[in-house]
Amino acid sequence: MSRFAKYISPHLRKPSTGFWGYLTRIFLKRNAPLTQETFLKLKAQESDHVLEVGFGYGSGLSFALQKTLRAGTGKLYGIDYSVTACDAVKQMLHKDIESEKLKIFNADVASIPIGDNEIDKVFHTNCFYFWPDMPAAAAELKRVMKPGALMVTSLNMQRLALSEQRGFLEKWQYQPERYLDAMKNAGFSDIRKESAYFEPGKTEILFMFAKKPGSHNCDVELSSPHSNVTGD
Ligand SMILES: C[S@@+](CC[C@H](N)C(=O)[O-])C[C@H]1O[C@@H](n2cnc3c(N)ncnc32)[C@H](O)[C@@H]1O
Repeated sequence: MSRFAKYISPHLRKPSTGFWGYLTRIFLKRNAPLTQETFLKLKAQESDHVLEVGFGYGSGLSFALQKTLRAGTGKLYGIDYSVTACDAVKQMLHKDIESEKLKIFNADVASIPIGDNEIDKVFHTNCFYFWPDMPAAAAELKRVMKPGALMVTSLNMQRLALSEQRGFLEKWQYQPERYLDAMKNAGFSDIRKESAYFEPGKTEILFMFAKKPGSHNCDVELSSPHSNVTGD
């Protein structure tokens, strides 16, 4: 592992302060387009209760508020176990917190301080690779989701392979099957993958969907493989 990877990796897993933490913050900015596309895949309504897990420096939360949730009766919840990430977002989005549109929890995904069946949509990017107990995380996410609620995550496999080469991650951590199997074992339904491209023929993105069984007015179509998206 290079010296760079040695110092950056802990901050990717759990952002903190200091020089390497500052560099990681800059590094994470390039994730914003993927986080935004992932949120859009939820087709969230203005009245939805949406949760982002592992929000880092908050580009996904900002986008969700600006694009959809600020305009309606819905609420946005963010959980991240990094105190530094939570502090940064609390500062950046203090108005939304004051108006009770946004709630930030400094917590582990395996122990979410939200009641049962409260959440309509969940999204997370660049996060599940770091969950120490994937079955516990899956069970906990399912608990807070309403019956029929949808969860989406995304992987830029090309970039993840580069991260592996540079020593930021190990291959087993980001394998899609590891995540999908955990969701299946936790009892999620409608589990599927969808490939998309930021630009046709370029950077392939893998979106992974899972639903909590039951009925809920979740109107996302569940079969549109190989769609194209713009951005990045
Ligand atoms: C690589 S950063 C990604 C941040 C953001 N989603 C992005 O794509 O830029 C991973 C984030 O997930 C959070 N995280 C990792 N494991 C977590 C866990 N078990 N529970 C809650 N948050 C976690 C970290 O604190 C960090 O903010």
